[in-house]
Amino acid sequence: METRFEKKLLCIGAGYVGGPTMAMIAYKCPQYKITVIDINHKRIAEWNSDNLPIYEPGLDEIVKAARGRNLFFSTDVDKAIKESDIIFVSVNTPTKTFGVGAGMAADLQYWEKTARHILQCAESPKIIVEKSTLPVKTALAMERILTSNNNKIHFEVLSNPEFLAEGTAINDLENPDRVLIGSRQTESGIKARDELVEIYANWINKQRIITSDIWSSELSKIVSNAFLAQRISSINSISALCEKTDADINDVARAVGFDSRIGMKFLNASIGFGGSCFKKDILNLVYLCRYYGLNEVADYWDSVVKINDFQKERFVINMLTAMFNTLVNKKICLWGFAFKANTGDTRESPAIYIAKRLIEEKAELVITDPKALERARIDLQNIDANVKYVEDPYEAASGSYAIAIMTEWDLYKNLNYEKIYNSMIKPAFFFDGRNIVDHQRLFEIGFNVFPIGKPALTHF
Ligand SMILES: NC(=O)c1ccc[n+]([C@@H]2O[C@H](COP(=O)([O-])OP(=O)(O)OC[C@H]3O[C@@H](n4cnc5c(N)ncnc54)[C@H](O)[C@@H]3O)[C@@H](O)[C@H]2O)c1
Repeated sequence: METRFEKKLLCIGAGYVGGPTMAMIAYKCPQYKITVIDINHKRIAEWNSDNLPIYEPGLDEIVKAARGRNLFFSTDVDKAIKESDIIFVSVNTPTKTFGVGAGMAADLQYWEKTARHILQCAESPKIIVEKSTLPVKTALAMERILTSNNNKIHFEVLSNPEFLAEGTAINDLENPDRVLIGSRQTESGIKARDELVEIYANWINKQRIITSDIWSSELSKIVSNAFLAQRISSINSISALCEKTDADINDVARAVGFDSRIGMKFLNASIGFGGSCFKKDILNLVYLCRYYGLNEVADYWDSVVKINDFQKERFVINMLTAMFNTLVNKKICLWGFAFKANTGDTRESPAIYIAKRLIEEKAELVITDPKALERARIDLQNIDANVKYVEDPYEAASGSYAIAIMTEWDLYKNLNYEKIYNSMIKPAFFFDGRNIVDHQRLFEIGFNVFPIGKPALTHF
């Protein structure tokens, strides 16, 4: 039965990266057996159920097509390590919260435990693929651990960072801009690299599969995220200036983006970036630069995070100022809690910071989100405040003084705003943290509208 598979692939870590990535490989390559394992038993049970642990458009379909055929979710780590030829490691690498580098460096404890576990169980040569985002030179540490007990088994370590974006993960995995594979430039390194290239080549054009040395590959992932976040902070910094000068950030972004050297994408002003990666990866970059004595470079990248913090705080201050400098006992409705649309993920969501700040001002919050309400409850569980979680945006907004859009869900673009306005306390405020609604229309209905980076539309 098992011999029908050409290769056995294992992924350690069944999270936002491990789950969808391996589901896509299994879906596209029925000739490989793919096992995904995790120490979190609940997560594995969910992957084996009808309620997958993460929401991602298109994910259910590909998991259902491959699960039980050549895709298996399991907690039997030892067996899976023993039988696999290629092991992908996609465990979490959060920011360290303790000791040296706390608040900056990557916490590599999960990653190192995985390396030691592989060493302990392996009985045959294996290719180890770093999928997690790791500080440059981590593969070297992986190699050292794997060769530490001279057991003569050959491990070849590759770097293959994942570039998927949550919310569009399935499309990103099916049609990636590029797949990057870093390897040692030795005979065995290049052989292992070519084996991984052949796996992706099952559905991706080889021109999009790029290769490099390991260190460049590791660094490229962190730099890609730093550049993406930098673009968001750049446009957000200008949105603050627009609000002071009556310029319109959309017009500025359009004029700037028409320059083909700059391009239109990622120029939407907002309450700031979130997600588990951007901040963590930039802080990691800052830490690396400081470690190597490059303080000016570190300061430069650190400012991207500072502007993001500034943007969130600015949004809260704008709300407070507009609402007559007091939010005490005012019902405020947050529309959206996920860090972006089309995901239920709230890690580092700007909504968390904004909710906490509004609670500090003694506002009464009502939170609504089509996919992230459960996560929102967990994020705010230790807060001693009156927060309500309501699925229906109409019900959530009813009786509130203000609505603030936190997440750019399509759902919020075309609601019955007359009905919503009529159900609110007057004057009714609308703070569009994502610039997604028709501001003029809402103003005409009666709302006092506060977009990001554009003149406010008020009736007083
Ligand atoms: N989320 C994204 O959009 C994204 C995109 C690209 C890259 N990445 C990177 O990929 C990595 C994983 O991110 P994620 O969002 O999937 O994280 P996640 O927290 O969703 O998943 C990681 C999983 O690894 C499991 N795990 C930890 N230690 C383990 C061990 N020793 N054995 C087995 N399982 C273990 C955890 O239980 C968890 O389920 C990170 O390095 C991240 O920076 C994430």
